[in-house]
Amino acid sequence: MTTILGIESSCDDTAAAVIRDGALLSNVVSSQKVHESYGGVVPELASRAHQQNIIPVVDQALKKAGINKENLDAIAFTRGPGLMGSLLVGTSFAKGLSSALDIPMIDVNHLHAHVLAHFIKENGEDGDPPGFPFLCLLVSGGNSQIILVSSYKDMKIIGQTIDDAAGEAFDKCAKVMGLGYPGGPVVDRLAKEGDAAGFKFNKPRVSGYNYSFSGLKTSFLYLLRDGLKKDSGFIEKNKAALCASLQKTIIDVLMEQFRKAAKDLGVKEIAVAGGVSANSGLRAAFEDHARRFGWKIHIPPFAYTTDNAAMIAMAGYFKYEDRDFCPMEAAPFSRVVV
Ligand code: KG4
Repeated sequence: MTTILGIESSCDDTAAAVIRDGALLSNVVSSQKVHESYGGVVPELASRAHQQNIIPVVDQALKKAGINKENLDAIAFTRGPGLMGSLLVGTSFAKGLSSALDIPMIDVNHLHAHVLAHFIKENGEDGDPPGFPFLCLLVSGGNSQIILVSSYKDMKIIGQTIDDAAGEAFDKCAKVMGLGYPGGPVVDRLAKEGDAAGFKFNKPRVSGYNYSFSGLKTSFLYLLRDGLKKDSGFIEKNKAALCASLQKTIIDVLMEQFRKAAKDLGVKEIAVAGGVSANSGLRAAFEDHARRFGWKIHIPPFAYTTDNAAMIAMAGYFKYEDRDFCPMEAAPFSRVVV
């Protein structure tokens, strides 16, 4: 029996979870509200909030799992990528606890963990995890990647954004419409009531299987600027259509490159991961593609799409099986070096 504590602190969620032999025992997330009034995550405030949250969050995760810290076999933590100050809190805490308990520490790549969230067993049930090899679209606030997953540890990035991530495009466009932060879920909600053909945006031309969203953000901004010149109520009157058209463009761009990659590689086992995979339009697009192209799709439960520690503990569990531990000197990394 192997019991792993997972710790996640890469951005603005302080999270801890316990997994025993791949089955989830507890999953606690404390989302920091302090950033809302700033329209985005303030790194220094995030690391301070992690310091306040980490002990109660871990304590709650252990209690909910019905175990003591002495029952743990290892501690898995997010080593990167993410905000350096935030990562340092989780990493330092993991070091302290593993040293006090004299158990191994396992470093986890946050992006790999998003992909491995598909393997979490809920209520001891296996669910329907993807078979290898599968192609995963990882879309979050900081990343947009197409990953070929050949095993738990063999993941190859075959395409990624050359500028903004898809989540950033949602959030930044939402911000200029005054929809608050994070704007992705608000755009999703409003898009349901709007005409997706209401506004047209140029789609980027990018080589290979890569993405670009910065041009879309700029043309969205220009559209608002021109509209507001003619009518100061432009945003208010067109909010739903703006959201629907923006969402449709982002999804079309994501699916176009992904479809090309799946076809070229001849892969039909398909997964989606990351915060933006909570988007109802993107989920519908995957379901539509599954019908049209015979894809077998795997969409994670909502709780595992955004940042969480269950996926960190899950990734840690696979590394534990290989006895792939990390040394006490391990330093966090803010970016992935490719
Ligand atoms: O994976 P995640 O929680 O954090 C990162 O590691 O980045 O992703 C957060 C991103 C944000 O940009 C947020 O706006 C977006 O996921 N998001 C959504 C939806 N729910 C979350 N974007 C579009 N539609 C949604 N329903």
